[in-house]
Amino acid sequence: MSTTTNTAPAELPKWKTVEVTFEDGIAWVTLNRPTKRNAMSPTLNREMMDVLNVLEFDDRAKVLVLTGAGGAFSAGMDLKEYFRETENFEWIRKLRNHSASQDWMWRRLRKYPKSTIAMVNGWCFGGAFTPLVGCDLAVAAEDATFGVSEVNWGIIPGGNVCKAIEETMGYREALYYIMTGDTFTGKQAEAMGLVNYAVPADQLRSRVIEIAKKLLALNPVTVYNAKVMYKFTRNMDWETASEFSGAKSAQNAMMDKEKGRLKGLEQFLDEKSFRPGLGAYRRDD
Ligand code: ACO
Repeated sequence: MSTTTNTAPAELPKWKTVEVTFEDGIAWVTLNRPTKRNAMSPTLNREMMDVLNVLEFDDRAKVLVLTGAGGAFSAGMDLKEYFRETENFEWIRKLRNHSASQDWMWRRLRKYPKSTIAMVNGWCFGGAFTPLVGCDLAVAAEDATFGVSEVNWGIIPGGNVCKAIEETMGYREALYYIMTGDTFTGKQAEAMGLVNYAVPADQLRSRVIEIAKKLLALNPVTVYNAKVMYKFTRNMDWETASEFSGAKSAQNAMMDKEKGRLKGLEQFLDEKSFRPGLGAYRRDD
């Protein structure tokens, strides 16, 4: 398995539990265990880490869309492979399985260099909330079913599910669903802020493509630094956030070989050919 090389392989590795296809700058990353409702097994988690490592350097992948095969986004952690079969594992093997899931679901995804969109096409339970929120943006089918179902079978929402919920849902809603295990729909998820939009299932893909195209038109270095700055300043006090954002701005200018800022100023102030308030500067000049 390739993992941390800094070039894209000529051909994608053959993953057993994840399918990757490319289309116009979008990498469609599909959790692919439909007969198990895309429950996340240790193999799937290791393969997802590999997928993210490979796509990082693949120019066909400018925006990543994470979705699920069949009628499910993901039914959460694989209860057989993660819980029943590991009951008697020694602690170090349990830890390794745990980090396999955490490494891709939020450590890697939250600051992934490319923009990420979760496309929730159906069931989304428990552990699946972590990669859902790990993605930058999320769009759901109106009739998708969400549930923080851990309490239904006697465990608490671990694996940073609570943290993911805390970042996106309101206090009362979060506690209600964490404590009751009730399900809610894509439409309710939109109203709560867990996803950006909920749309009829037959419009899900086109809505995601529309958002991906907006992102594709923008300077990728700036989009990356802007999202990282937002995600990390949330937990900082004002002084620290101010210093961090100053440093991030300088880093952005240094990383941006395209010199977007200068192009934008030139097109607005000299050429008067675009208005920054109303759209992106032309990147092909
Ligand atoms: N882990 C392991 N296997 C699963 C999981 C899961 N999370 N979800 C579904 N499967 C398997 C079933 O065991 C079944 O396998 P089998 O065909 O070998 O018997 C197959 O997927 C289909 O499942 P059904 O229950 O028959 O599918 P249905 O469409 O009727 O229901 C639903 C789908 C509602 C998602 C149901 O499967 C379910 O409740 N799954 C568990 C959801 C959940 O609570 N996940 C855990 C959250 S907590 C956590 O992530 C730590």
